[in-house]
Amino acid sequence: MRQHVNPLSQFFQLPLSLPSKSILFKDAHYPIHLDIGSAKGEFLIELASKYPKWNFVGLEIREPLVISAERKRNKLELNNLKFLFCNVNISLDEWLSDLDDGQLKRVSIQFPDPWFKRKHFKRRVFKISLLNSIARFMSKDGELFIQSDIFKLIESMTNVIDNSNYFDRKDISGFRWINQNPYDATTDRELFALKKNLTIYKAMYIRNSSLFIN
Ligand SMILES: C[S@@+](CC[C@H](N)C(=O)[O-])C[C@H]1O[C@@H](n2cnc3c(N)ncnc32)[C@H](O)[C@@H]1O
Repeated sequence: MRQHVNPLSQFFQLPLSLPSKSILFKDAHYPIHLDIGSAKGEFLIELASKYPKWNFVGLEIREPLVISAERKRNKLELNNLKFLFCNVNISLDEWLSDLDDGQLKRVSIQFPDPWFKRKHFKRRVFKISLLNSIARFMSKDGELFIQSDIFKLIESMTNVIDNSNYFDRKDISGFRWINQNPYDATTDRELFALKKNLTIYKAMYIRNSSLFIN
């Protein structure tokens, strides 16, 4: 399987109409946790098994990963989880606009692709436009969780979020980074980084009450 796809290529710039929540879920009104770049899906599979009163959505640009994650989900008969193929930078807004007010409670972006070369920075998934979409639709007190083992990358993300009006950084007694994944599950890349003893930078943000104006 291809390790990366170029999200800026013509094919991935075509908007996809994602199925609405009432098609995806048995109980369409449960709170939603959205995981951006869900890859093999293990993180959400674990959470969905543990928390049946939440709905979980994993969005992923590499379609073969979505197909295999969906296969695992089906086998486990998890009705509160769905993996969808899309480029989140293109197709997320329309889907979010269909949610109930306050339904989007958690968004996680974990170990996003670094695209190390400066000329490739624009391929990175996290952009101000994505942050704005999340802010526009997230419930007050909703959580945005990010983590990476690449300091420069996470720093560029925290700079954008810290400078936005919409999120307050959860500061655990003066430390910039939180110690633990706040959720009851780990991602594949997180397990890899833990095994290799890499430093992992984790930050949690809470949606404040400032209204979205744009
Ligand atoms: C390094 S992997 C991390 C996967 C997983 N979150 C983890 O921690 O193990 C980043 C994932 O984000 C996906 N991705 C990158 N850009 C994306 C985009 N624009 N839309 C959706 N998924 C994207 C990649 O295909 C890849 O599977």
